[in-house]
Amino acid sequence: MDAIVPIAMRWMHLFSVMVLIGGVVYARFAAGEMADRFKPMAYVAIGAILVSGLYLFLSKSSHPAHYQMRFGIKVLLALDVFAAVVLYKKGKQKSLTRAAIWGAVIVAIAGYLRWITLH
Ligand code: HEM
Repeated sequence: MDAIVPIAMRWMHLFSVMVLIGGVVYARFAAGEMADRFKPMAYVAIGAILVSGLYLFLSKSSHPAHYQMRFGIKVLLALDVFAAVVLYKKGKQKSLTRAAIWGAVIVAIAGYLRWITLH
């Protein structure tokens, strides 16, 4: 029973990240534009990423050496992805490219943070 909230929060984080970054990659490389209809969904995903991410961070029992600095870089890049989506205007393909690249980098940093926590 103790596992329900942590697992739900992890699911919320990962699923929201899939929706947001998946939407950005689709908009940039398949559709060529981000549809206006994607924005409400993206706002929900951003809110869920922030709530679940904060929960995951605060619920860690200990942080390995250098965790905070790498985590800080991850959050700063995430804020840039959020800004690119929120401020997106038709034709601003460069901001979608940047958000897609940062998305890939952020997932790599997240995997690294997990790895240094477990090893
Ligand atoms: C575009 C934005 C983001 C992406 C793509 C992203 C991606 C991910 C992924 C894929 C994981 C799972 C790593 C794994 O289990 O291997 C993760 C974990 C995590 N994320 Fe995010 N995240 C984003 C934003 C945020 C934000 C804004 C916060 C903080 C407010 C945050 C906090 C965390 C924490 C604390 C973990 C657990 C890391 C660990 O296991 O030590 N994330 N993130």
